[in-house]
Amino acid sequence: MGLRVPVVNAPMGGVAGGRLAAAVTSAGGLGMIGMGSAGSAAALREELRHTASLGGRFGIGLVKWVVDADPELLDVAIAAAPTLIAVSFGSDPSWIARVRDSGIRTATQVYNAAEARRAADAGIDVLVARGAEGGGHGAMEMATLPLLDAVLDAVSTPVLAAGGIGSPASFAAALAAGADGVWLGTRLAACAESSLPEAGRRALIAAEGTDTVVTTAFDVAMRLPWPARFPARVLRNDFTARWAGHEDALDEQARAELAAAVAADDPRTAPIDAGQGVGAITAVTPAAQVIDELCSGAAELLARH
Ligand SMILES: Cc1cc2nc3c(=O)[nH]c(=O)nc-3n(C[C@H](O)[C@H](O)[C@H](O)COP(=O)(O)O)c2cc1C
Repeated sequence: MGLRVPVVNAPMGGVAGGRLAAAVTSAGGLGMIGMGSAGSAAALREELRHTASLGGRFGIGLVKWVVDADPELLDVAIAAAPTLIAVSFGSDPSWIARVRDSGIRTATQVYNAAEARRAADAGIDVLVARGAEGGGHGAMEMATLPLLDAVLDAVSTPVLAAGGIGSPASFAAALAAGADGVWLGTRLAACAESSLPEAGRRALIAAEGTDTVVTTAFDVAMRLPWPARFPARVLRNDFTARWAGHEDALDEQARAELAAAVAADDPRTAPIDAGQGVGAITAVTPAAQVIDELCSGAAELLARH
């Protein structure tokens, strides 16, 4: 895909917009625009303004059940002629042939070897082995390194490692284990170019690796139709302390408080997706600096062995 560094920024709804995608591509990786559960064709068009000068050197990541509800999203993504389109969180692979027939490479996140084989059989170009350490939604089945082993054994398709990768050491480990590159989410979420509001960045900076929790509480409260297989890893906060594991008891008052916190960008109650690598984030820095530090640090570590 013409990358100078083996880094793809994970498409992160509400966080990885066109500005972050452009910054990651300019730093030598592949920037991805993320359209999450609130994604729409109109929102994607808006973000594409920031990637217009990249000559197609960026990607777009979509959520399968959101595309099913708004098929125009995939039409707009294909029409933008990016280098890569990822559709995750679904089992119907019919989108793959359509995107490939348009001359665009395809990617999807997988959580075990059988799923990797199925996606490879359906013609996927790039697999993302996404471990349970990762931030945001995903199947919490295997940790990143054992999953990477299993997927690399199962397929000959290029594989990106994802989940908990945010330091030179974890980046080097993924490459040494045979990944073709990494798919970085959380580590890029607090970059200067991300769309995450200021309070969310501060929460990421303050968090340690032990401060995340896997839950469906936010999705149930917001009545988002995420498949049960895909809970989200988020920062622990007042809302998860009260409602994680008690989703059946969620009432209208809790829903109203959550909606108000989301509108006010208040991370004490609103969800902040984050993986266990969140402890590596100590400041808001440009994406290029993060990528340079990861690459030079990983190169140094790999050269030692
Ligand atoms: C803030 C945030 C938002 C995310 N939104 C999406 C999304 O819209 N679509 C998607 O495919 N994955 C999304 N993910 C999951 C990533 O694709 C990826 O699996 C994860 O970030 C990898 O783990 P890491 O965060 O530890 O790097 C999101 C992750 C985060 C942290």
